[in-house]
Amino acid sequence: MSTDKITLTESFYKTADALQTRIRIHEQYTEPAVDFNAWVLDQIRWRGDEVVLDVGCGAGSYMAPAQARGGRYLAGDLSHGMLKGLDTAAPRLNLDAQQLPLADNSVDVILANHMLYHVPNQPAAVAEFARVLRPRGYLLACTNSIYNLLQYHQLRVEACQALGVPSRPPEEWISFPFSAENGAEVIGRAFPNVKTHLLESALVFPHAQPVLDYFRSMRMGIEPELIAHGRTWAEFEGYVAAVLATHFASHPTWPVAKKAAVFVAQKTNQPHSLGINQALVLMPHCCSKVFPGSARALEHQKENLGWHQHYDPPPI
Ligand SMILES: C[S@@+](CC[C@H](N)C(=O)[O-])C[C@H]1O[C@@H](n2cnc3c(N)ncnc32)[C@H](O)[C@@H]1O
Repeated sequence: MSTDKITLTESFYKTADALQTRIRIHEQYTEPAVDFNAWVLDQIRWRGDEVVLDVGCGAGSYMAPAQARGGRYLAGDLSHGMLKGLDTAAPRLNLDAQQLPLADNSVDVILANHMLYHVPNQPAAVAEFARVLRPRGYLLACTNSIYNLLQYHQLRVEACQALGVPSRPPEEWISFPFSAENGAEVIGRAFPNVKTHLLESALVFPHAQPVLDYFRSMRMGIEPELIAHGRTWAEFEGYVAAVLATHFASHPTWPVAKKAAVFVAQKTNQPHSLGINQALVLMPHCCSKVFPGSARALEHQKENLGWHQHYDPPPI
């Protein structure tokens, strides 16, 4: 499922609030604790003077770590609300990944993290990434496995079914069109050199509240299905809360499996600068329990906010 532009910019990503909630929960409850953004960025060796375009920058969680590595950061997003919320002097580009407002061969590093699954025409976006990247530049694109947050999605489906609402199964949730499983193939259409790195971990919830907060942050994606079948958010949340109360009455935690991938791609067939040729897999003990087997324009230009219609990064 890709997501239409109005839904993305006027609902899911109108503001950064829901995304920030999920980021905070991942930071607080992931075991083993890992700095995910650093894990992504450190898949390449940084010179310290790269022009970095963050496509689908969202709340800007890659801005500080990219700048700390010396990158000259450009924030890009389809949503005004996201760009408006960024507290930065860096250039902000209201853009669509499928038609980037940058010159050919003008960027050293493109970040396209947890965003390609929203893009209707992924081959067009990937072709745009290849066009604007300099010959030795890198694309870093991360996403989730179709089995990411499996137990969470199972609970979502169970609650919907209990209310008589048909719902997409876990493996058809949002990461499905661009996932850990198929992402290398999608990127490989425009990049001859793609490496995949995997990271497995778990959200280990000690009580129900952060689970309910996570569900609330996804309400915009769940509630339309409920309403279409005459059900309410309160009924859905009530069911989920009851299941969690029963669970926590006899278990100290509720572990939820996480699995992410980052694809590191280049236009040329040189070996990668870090020489990593195999997936880096972090597999804590808890994951073996929670993973069953191994098995997701610019038309509102705002000059006063410093947004750019077309941006020419300075030459290096
Ligand atoms: C899940 S958030 C990821 C944010 C950030 N990259 C991160 O990893 O924290 C997805 C972001 O992609 C943006 N987005 C979706 N489709 C886009 C497109 N076609 N072009 C540019 N940005 C897009 C959304 O507005 C949202 O801010």
